[in-house]
Amino acid sequence: MRAFALFLLAVPLLAQHGRYLSDSKHPSIGNPQAIAAGTKLFMGSCAGCHGPDGGGGARGPNLVRRSLWHPLSDDAIFQVIRKGVPGTDMPPTALNDELTWNLVAFIHALTGPASTNPVPGDPAAGKSVFWGAKAGCANCHAIRGQGGHTGPDLSNVGGGRPLAVIREAVIEPAKDLYYLGNEAATVILRSGKTIQGVAKNRSNYSLQLVDTNGSLHLISMGDVKQLTLSASTPMPTNYATRLSKDELRDLFAYLAAQDTRADARKDSK
Ligand code: HEC
Ligand code: HEC
Repeated sequence: MRAFALFLLAVPLLAQHGRYLSDSKHPSIGNPQAIAAGTKLFMGSCAGCHGPDGGGGARGPNLVRRSLWHPLSDDAIFQVIRKGVPGTDMPPTALNDELTWNLVAFIHALTGPASTNPVPGDPAAGKSVFWGAKAGCANCHAIRGQGGHTGPDLSNVGGGRPLAVIREAVIEPAKDLYYLGNEAATVILRSGKTIQGVAKNRSNYSLQLVDTNGSLHLISMGDVKQLTLSASTPMPTNYATRLSKDELRDLFAYLAAQDTRADARKDSK
């Protein structure tokens, strides 16, 4: 039995499904009515502990952030809701299957990849915002080989991040650099060379730095004379006011649609 369960787990990993272990086939997932019904249930039964936006409270963890560290499949969310997490404050519930799936659909909309959920707005209009001069996103971010390299490549941002995380990255940057793994860094090497960029992976022994041209440097800490990590970010912090509500909504719709796996699915047809 145990070997069988491990085998099921290994298949999606081998299929390169990224950090979200499975795309559930259940019809509630991504279904606006189910999500709306799940939102109501969540507000009534769960928000008291997890916060109204799943952002956490005194008695329950932030579900969005938790899912980035520790992604849960839809089936696992179903089981957690039904059975609770024994030994913790997370209680079991007595909801029928349909209501439980409504809740799973809501949690999936909150914590699953943005591309797998309905997102309001016009992606075509959002595309113009992204590539236009007013927002200037493309000065720093590339999508499919076009654009700048100061910031992370966003070709798969909708396939890899929940909408809430994309929103937060644009509207409240600097808040979550650490958990996204993007620290602005300046390195002075013993050779005298200075490299500026974004630190991707950092340990006591080594550092991976993407410089402002987009090149990846693998640096041994033994070669480093001085490392300055910045808690501030090159990402502008005023988009909440610089862009209109409509521009932001459309921009998020465009970013949510960026999913390299969706491309791969299309290409293979
Ligand atoms: C009394 C407080 C409380 C209530 C009510 C509550 N939760 Fe939780 N929930 C928790 C705690 C605490 C955890 C963390 C358990 C742990 O440490 O693994 C948790 C964990 C979770 C997890 C993540 C499990 C994991 O492994 O990451 C999900 C999903 C979740 N809750 C959904 C819900 C839903 C949906 C409801 C409403 C039906 C709900 N919770 C109601 C306290 C609560
Ligand atoms: C001056 C350069 C710059 C501009 C302009 C810029 N960004 Fe960023 N952005 C960054 C950097 C650098 C990061 C990496 C994390 C950090 O430092 O905040 C980042 C992070 C992000 C992330 C999080 C990516 C992830 O998953 O790690 C998103 C999403 C994002 N930016 C979207 C945008 C959008 C949309 C715009 C335009 C409205 C924009 N950025 C404009 C530099 C920029």
